[in-house]
Amino acid sequence: MKTCSSLAIFAVSFLLSSITAHARSVKMTKRIDNCPEIVGVVNLHRQFHHDKEHYVYTTNSSEVDRSAVGYEYDGVLGGAFEKQEASTVPLYHIYNDHTQANFYTTDEAERESELSHNLANVDRGIAAFVLSKRACGSKPLFRQFNPATGNHFLTTDEEEVEYALTDRGYEEPIISGFVMQK
Ligand SMILES: *[C@@H]1O[C@H](CO)[C@@H](O)[C@H](O)[C@H]1NC(C)=O
Repeated sequence: MKTCSSLAIFAVSFLLSSITAHARSVKMTKRIDNCPEIVGVVNLHRQFHHDKEHYVYTTNSSEVDRSAVGYEYDGVLGGAFEKQEASTVPLYHIYNDHTQANFYTTDEAERESELSHNLANVDRGIAAFVLSKRACGSKPLFRQFNPATGNHFLTTDEEEVEYALTDRGYEEPIISGFVMQK
């Protein structure tokens, strides 16, 4: 009888906890489901050159392996777009022939200024399209600059922003558009 009642208690508590877990997962799904459907989202990959502290970003899976030129794969920042979609802007890529550093901007005036003021800068076109404004299910794409090395990098990870500020000599971030959450 005793075994029977403790079994019943176990069964009830198991049932309750699974209902709670289910409710939690339904809520999560609903929150994401409430966002309007966005088409054409592709992963924005980051690669990192450890020695030079340079970063490269691409949505092209054929260009993810750059180990031949010293880069290691560094994960996905979020969802970007290969083609211009509603509410997206180009993320322009500029390569410095002299330092081999890569610079990215969504600001056309900044792009033009970089290309006209530094002869070593080469136009590498558009790396991806990103959202110009915060949208449902998106997160900011932060860009940080290191005045000591002249390097920039992009991240969506707020802990990485903080660490770059406190330990790596980078300045406060600016927001270079938004990407979809992974
Ligand atoms: C992806 O990269 C490959 C190799 O560089 C290139 O041949 C191809 O055209 C690229 N695809 C797009 C959509 O840019």
